[in-house]
Amino acid sequence: MASTTRNSTTGILSEDKSEQREQIIQMLTRAYWMEIETVMNYISNSINPDGVRAQEIIESLQEDIQEELGHAQQFAARIKELYGVVPGSQDFAAEQSYLQPPQHQTDIVHVIKGVIEAETGAIEHYNRIIETTDGVDFVTQDMVIEILHDEEGHRRLFEGYLREYEAEGLA
Ligand SMILES: [Fe+2]
Ligand SMILES: [Fe+2]
Repeated sequence: MASTTRNSTTGILSEDKSEQREQIIQMLTRAYWMEIETVMNYISNSINPDGVRAQEIIESLQEDIQEELGHAQQFAARIKELYGVVPGSQDFAAEQSYLQPPQHQTDIVHVIKGVIEAETGAIEHYNRIIETTDGVDFVTQDMVIEILHDEEGHRRLFEGYLREYEAEGLA
């Protein structure tokens, strides 16, 4: 009995969708690197801060590290499902200038603002993926909507921290 592999004829995995797949893979790869860089910077910013007021931020970032790592793994898995290859570290280019360690490790406002900037960048990029995949790749869209929900939660939490500092005239 001859066995043949049947190619998908509908949906994003079909042969005639290779161009759209390529575009989505590129966007997912960028998202993957954003998550990886966020993990790196959330690790440093969950360790470096000094002072009593730093504890809440430290604990919050420690939790986020695991979530962002999970996001990176989800993006990577989807890249593979779309017939892409997850890149290695030599393709990595850092972008998060705003999340570098502050001059003084008691400068919590610097960290809070950096986190808000990182989350905002993710929110913008993930909204673009959701728009690009609309009607084309519902599975990626569904996955990214869920991740976007996490990032909106992260940003809202850190906006709350910033408000507290602003209310006290410290930011
Ligand atoms: Fe994330
Ligand atoms: Fe996040």
